[in-house]
Amino acid sequence: MSKVTVVGAGAVGATCANVMACREVASEVVLVDIKEGLSEGKMLDMYQCSTLMDFDTKVVGVTNDYKKTANSDVVVITSGIPRKPGMTREELIGTNAKIMKGVVENVIKYSPRAIIIVVANPMDTLTYLALKVSGLPKNRVVGMGGALDSSRFKCYLAKATGANINNVDGMVIGGHGDTTMIPLVSKATVNGVPVSQFASKKKLQEAVQNTMVGGATLTKLIGTSAWYAPGAAAAMMVESILNDQKKLIPCSCYLEGEYGQSDLCIGVPAIIGRKGIEKIVKIDLTKEEEAMFAASAAAVHKTNDVLRETNAL
Ligand code: 2OP
Repeated sequence: MSKVTVVGAGAVGATCANVMACREVASEVVLVDIKEGLSEGKMLDMYQCSTLMDFDTKVVGVTNDYKKTANSDVVVITSGIPRKPGMTREELIGTNAKIMKGVVENVIKYSPRAIIIVVANPMDTLTYLALKVSGLPKNRVVGMGGALDSSRFKCYLAKATGANINNVDGMVIGGHGDTTMIPLVSKATVNGVPVSQFASKKKLQEAVQNTMVGGATLTKLIGTSAWYAPGAAAAMMVESILNDQKKLIPCSCYLEGEYGQSDLCIGVPAIIGRKGIEKIVKIDLTKEEEAMFAASAAAVHKTNDVLRETNAL
């Protein structure tokens, strides 16, 4: 018996709940939103997929009633405003930090043993805020960004190399921002063979650039932030936790000296299992990648400072 709560019934939250219900990741999925009827309606719609998609996950929708979320094993927080075309994720901080604080307090009150996955933006800073506000140990609060950015990177690498998408491997570390994420070309492969064997430097650089603005490209096309891959990325992390899969996932973790950084949450490769972040994996970076990671961390620190300046922390 396992229970997952998703906070925020917008497109990302509902997609995450849908992926988890269809894959029977948990026995119960609860969706919460402040908007009257929204979660109830979406979960009723999802329930009506049960026989079509052949699942029997219990799906529950509630309006702001955290009692119904009690004893969740994992809580995914997607609540907040999404960015509009032309906006950076960092610009959402004022509104979304306030929302995050209130949500985390409610979550912890009813599910003190939960592992929290933060999806809302600016993701690294809100993961840091959730960690500080909840008082939870650092292994139980994790941000989703790197999982999503890595899946986008793999798509662009598949295009650049002409390889089968499922043969491509690659990861993105650093902050979940248009200028802070670091797609690691040096580690990317086609079934273990370095991507440099299949694509020119120029093509690989294009894949890197496209990955970095991957979210912004979608926001421009759709008019609001993306949801299919963000929702699926969070669901994949929940699955790794509940089934103790111990997948190596780049995600936002609290650092205490790892990668030369402290007192921030930022994307690094980590083993994700039943205890949440079970291990931060140290990988060798090139000198250039190291410098990029330090610059990315400095930018995330700067956004975290806004939390203090605005008394959100
Ligand atoms: C994105 O990159 C939602 O931040 C998310 O699409």
